[in-house]
Amino acid sequence: MTDPQGRGGQALARAFLEQQQLLGGDVVILPDGPTLGSTPGSRPGSVDSRSHAIEPTPGASPGNPNTPAAQPASELPPAGISYDPPGSDLFATDPLPQARSLDAVAQLVASCTKCRLCEARRHTVPGEGPPDARLVVVGEGPGRVEDETGRPFVGQAGELLTKILAAIELPRERVFICNVVKCRPPENRVPQYDEIAACVPYLFHQLDLLKPAVILAMGGTAAQTLLNTKQSLGALRNQVHRFRGIPVIVTYHPAALLRNPNWKKPTWDDVRIARRLIA
Ligand code: URA
Ligand code: SF4
Repeated sequence: MTDPQGRGGQALARAFLEQQQLLGGDVVILPDGPTLGSTPGSRPGSVDSRSHAIEPTPGASPGNPNTPAAQPASELPPAGISYDPPGSDLFATDPLPQARSLDAVAQLVASCTKCRLCEARRHTVPGEGPPDARLVVVGEGPGRVEDETGRPFVGQAGELLTKILAAIELPRERVFICNVVKCRPPENRVPQYDEIAACVPYLFHQLDLLKPAVILAMGGTAAQTLLNTKQSLGALRNQVHRFRGIPVIVTYHPAALLRNPNWKKPTWDDVRIARRLIA
């Protein structure tokens, strides 16, 4: 092909198909170049999980008992939990309610010693993104690379998150990305209840300042914290919940997707719902 525009179009199509496949789509065969989904030699443990593309994905088989009844594309999932925690006391001595900007919150986080997670941290990871972000992504807590850099979702799970956001045409730079706890739990263990309780006022205050159109809760810790429930992630998916009135969509954590590529397709469904709520 000599037409540069046609080539550009094909590159675009290829990028699009790669994204589709990343998120659990079926194998696609293009006339030239490598066949997506059947390329041998994927690096083990890499984000690219092409070898799984031919496996059936949940929702692909009509008789799957775990699959909720298909919704027409134009319909949103039903309403779920509404959580409206009381705001903090403006007259208390705690400086957090007085923090007027995300930077001011980050400064308070930087010197925080409210829970034992302060002991082994190298950097606090308050979160990052523009103050006018329409989407806020909430994960669980910083991992090793996040602790080293002070930035959220920059390790392997973060790379996958960046691709997921690109696939719904939301460049990562336009999204506020943060976590329930702002310091790394040792060995990446799940944060404990008292650690979450100590840290969550920072997240709630960030959300009050951001006032996003949608919150995407990735993983059980984020979902259960934002909705004040012990229900499983599976039970919480596919509903439009609310946190202080803001729609909350629950989906799998990107680290879980790296372990179980069968969850990519349902995650793709969830993020598309979140995208529609932003539009
Ligand atoms: N996992 C999370 O939940 N948050 C991060 O920032 C990185 C990995
Ligand atoms: Fe403070 Fe949160 Fe870090 Fe605990 S995890 S020390 S509450 S910032």
